[in-house]
Amino acid sequence: MATTETTASGIGPVEGSSGYGVDNPAPLIEAPRKRTKKTPRSTRGNFEMAAWLFMRLSGIVLVVLVIGHLLIQLVLDGGVSKIGFAFVAGRWASPFWQVWDLLMLWLAMLHGANGLRTIINDYAERANTRLWLKGLLYTATVFTILLGTLVIFTFDPNIR
Ligand code: HEM
Repeated sequence: MATTETTASGIGPVEGSSGYGVDNPAPLIEAPRKRTKKTPRSTRGNFEMAAWLFMRLSGIVLVVLVIGHLLIQLVLDGGVSKIGFAFVAGRWASPFWQVWDLLMLWLAMLHGANGLRTIINDYAERANTRLWLKGLLYTATVFTILLGTLVIFTFDPNIR
């Protein structure tokens, strides 16, 4: 009954074993790629981690910006009926509301674009499909951010 025989470590005899046990544990095997002084700390960078953090931080700031925006535009002072050229001109005369709208534009666009980037990476299975969808996404994002920024800073209340 050699098969039921056990050692002190509870390990039974192994066929062709060279006698490993409590006093003779498994040999040390070196890591396949040993790190040297020249090995970079990481070969991947931290972009995805930064993007993950950006989604959380921009989300928190967007709650304040968007709820404030909705209150001012749609609820306070008679709701939507007050909105017109004069109302917009009055608000954008103030650097405070210019910065508010600029921040909302940039954060919403970058947050939304990065969210869609994640969705494309998750759902578009072919590399070519991902390439085209992300190309379209980045083009639309850059175009909208540039155009919106231009409008906020070049808006002329005296236009005829
Ligand atoms: C108003 C406050 C907002 C908060 C608190 C917020 C929060 C978040 C958070 C935490 C994520 C990450 C979810 C994850 O990784 O699983 C996310 C994803 C996303 N957000 Fe927002 N967000 C806000 C506004 C917006 C706006 C204005 C847009 C569009 C312009 C937007 C579009 C997206 C998209 C497309 C995703 C990706 C969804 C996914 O991965 O399934 N969000 N949001």
